[in-house]
Amino acid sequence: MAQLWGGRFTKATDRTVCDFNASIRFDRRLFHEDIEGSMAHVTMLARQKILTERERDEILKGLSGIREDVDNGKLDIDETCEDIHSFVEAELIRRIGDTGKKMHTGRSRNDQVALDMRLYTRKHVIRADGLLRELLTVILAVMEENLGTYMPGFTHLQKAQPTTLAHHYGAYFEMFRRDRQRMADIYRRMNYCPLGAGALAGTTYPLDREYTASLMGFAGPTQNSMDSVSDRDYLIEFLSALSTVMMHLSRFSEEIIIWNSNEYQFVEIDDAYSTGSSIMPQKKNPDVAELIRGKTGRVYGALMALLTTMKGIPLAYNKDMQEDKELTFDAIDTVEDCLTLFAGMLRTMRFRKERMAASAMNGFTNATDAADYLVGKGVPFRDAHGIIGRLVLYCVEKKTSIDRLSLEELQGISDKFEEDIYDAVSLETCVEKRLTIGGPGQEAMKAVIGKHRAYLEEGTLRDSE
Ligand code: ARG
Repeated sequence: MAQLWGGRFTKATDRTVCDFNASIRFDRRLFHEDIEGSMAHVTMLARQKILTERERDEILKGLSGIREDVDNGKLDIDETCEDIHSFVEAELIRRIGDTGKKMHTGRSRNDQVALDMRLYTRKHVIRADGLLRELLTVILAVMEENLGTYMPGFTHLQKAQPTTLAHHYGAYFEMFRRDRQRMADIYRRMNYCPLGAGALAGTTYPLDREYTASLMGFAGPTQNSMDSVSDRDYLIEFLSALSTVMMHLSRFSEEIIIWNSNEYQFVEIDDAYSTGSSIMPQKKNPDVAELIRGKTGRVYGALMALLTTMKGIPLAYNKDMQEDKELTFDAIDTVEDCLTLFAGMLRTMRFRKERMAASAMNGFTNATDAADYLVGKGVPFRDAHGIIGRLVLYCVEKKTSIDRLSLEELQGISDKFEEDIYDAVSLETCVEKRLTIGGPGQEAMKAVIGKHRAYLEEGTLRDSE
């Protein structure tokens, strides 16, 4: 297949160079965006009288024919072409002849690819936002059903204070909500059209860049043509936001793996989301959660790779930038899969509420509340901390818990203990009295859940299209 640029060469490109240089194997993914961008471009060219209306119509018809034929499998994208832009142009010229050669007037592949990639990425920023919203819906449903499902809260993976499943999930609700906010920020910042920047210095044709931008739903055109062809910040921001999504998914996966372990048995992952072992018949493994945790690495990798690729590139376009595509595509595929699978796993996972509550009952998760009880009886907190520390030691030696000690035993350690200590250190009291904003007590949680409901009813990024 002929190249777009043979004129000044006297010798054919070496085969190995063609293969090394070509991007069609992966930028074929930009086919629809490439057609969309070209349609907007020629529409603008005709409006500016750079093309006649007839030429415009011929080109538009040719382009929609190509799109249709590729979409319904009548035409294969020819992988001997250098890139998707060359394929579309060559195919157009093959179909409509010389008029097709006018399509690239006032355009370079540099602004063309910058546009294609931006259109593609914009779509996937919107998709990530939608998938995150679906995940938040699943999380909120679990929260609403589990306001009174007690479980231990941990620090250092040691039991710390009792909390509820709703409260624990609520932490992830906050994380994934911030992830959505990051998508919205990125969308706002990236939604400017680079087309019309030309190779790097704009063009002498009277292009109407405002018009082209509006045809494709951008907020406006970019403001510096050199930046337009060499900006990949929006991809770095997107990969960074995707990395953060993966970090959150990975932490949640790790907890599910722990909760699903034989030792904890807080949850049971549904059969549909578990896998077996080829040798050990008893096994039901949390492979989905493990894979999500594992795939976090490749998304971080894409971010680090693109940051590194970009760091030494002088203005404006350099071929290094072609490397942005495979990295971004792989990260997008990975995160979209992980979000979908994770939401499915969460939706079908069962909770063993008795085991969670039993676990919250032991391990001295009520020790802070016992100290607070003494504070209520006039003991300074630091002294109360020391008294309860000795009480815990006593319980450890006796293999019992604070709430199971007799009043005599308790008073043997401090004469401040009275009958009301039992109520003060009960699981219910420990949780339900924690009513500060953001705490696990039911009344505090209900207020937050109400806000979450309203938030999920707000518009999505898709609505801004
Ligand atoms: N395949 C190229 C890329 O992805 C398209 C732009 C080519 N521009 C150039 N001057 N060679 O970056």
